[in-house]
Amino acid sequence: PSATLAVDKVGGRIGAVISGVRLGGDLDEATVAEIRAALLEHKVVFFRDQHHLDAEGHEAFGRLLGELVAHPTVPSVDGRYALGIDNDHGGRANQWHTDVTFVPAYPAFSILRAEVVPPYGGNTLWANTAAAYAELPQPLRVLADSVRGVHTNDYDYAATRPEAPSRELEQHRKVFTAVKFQTEHPVVRVHPETGERTLVLGSFLQKLTGFTGHDSRALIGVLQSHVERPENTVRWQWRAGDVAIWDNRATQHYGVDDSDAHERTLRRITVDGDVPVGVDG
Ligand code: SIN
Repeated sequence: PSATLAVDKVGGRIGAVISGVRLGGDLDEATVAEIRAALLEHKVVFFRDQHHLDAEGHEAFGRLLGELVAHPTVPSVDGRYALGIDNDHGGRANQWHTDVTFVPAYPAFSILRAEVVPPYGGNTLWANTAAAYAELPQPLRVLADSVRGVHTNDYDYAATRPEAPSRELEQHRKVFTAVKFQTEHPVVRVHPETGERTLVLGSFLQKLTGFTGHDSRALIGVLQSHVERPENTVRWQWRAGDVAIWDNRATQHYGVDDSDAHERTLRRITVDGDVPVGVDG
């Protein structure tokens, strides 16, 4: 381990703060390897006081983890890769989701940087989908192992939430493209780097293949309830200059929409992933 970098757990099953590192494109290989190892182990890692990081530095650091990929439907805020998560861009991500699961090879990592944070609220929660799988009773694991699910962007952020305020819907029409994506994934994927089994669910999951709507909703509800169990989650209270990186193949997250009209400006970039492989290959 590095002499300067410290990794401190913030939750029992998910989340760690990494200190003693200044993020950027100039980090040496050993430090990047340590960050990556901590990320794979803790699923989401947090860095405080990265005020120096601008859009360019954010991307340069992201490239050390893999190839950057633009969001398939939401135009970038700067013409490059960054997704704007702020009061002017669509609604809040206040549903449990894994980023962009409606495409076949969804992102491996997301890197979220806080520019402006509200005076209260606006926390983000992450859940460990490997821990959720591991705690399932054995017969349920066997069932989940054999099921596949259809993911679509029909539920992209606030787009089709019936309760979405009209302001959100209008903004959505302005910033989202109308392209529809749909893809099928195994409900349980084998993580390509850790070998762990993780649950592939979240708000883009429309239906389980081969089940009636009723059975599909009931089974998704049972599995998802294990993901959301507080013991499998961590909650982060943002400060300006914070950076969070999560393993998008082993987590879901939820942006809490409780900071009223206060400004909350975050920027997210994503690192390319691969097509999920189920337990039978
Ligand atoms: C996201 O879903 O990437 C954003 C989460 C948040 O706004 O807290």
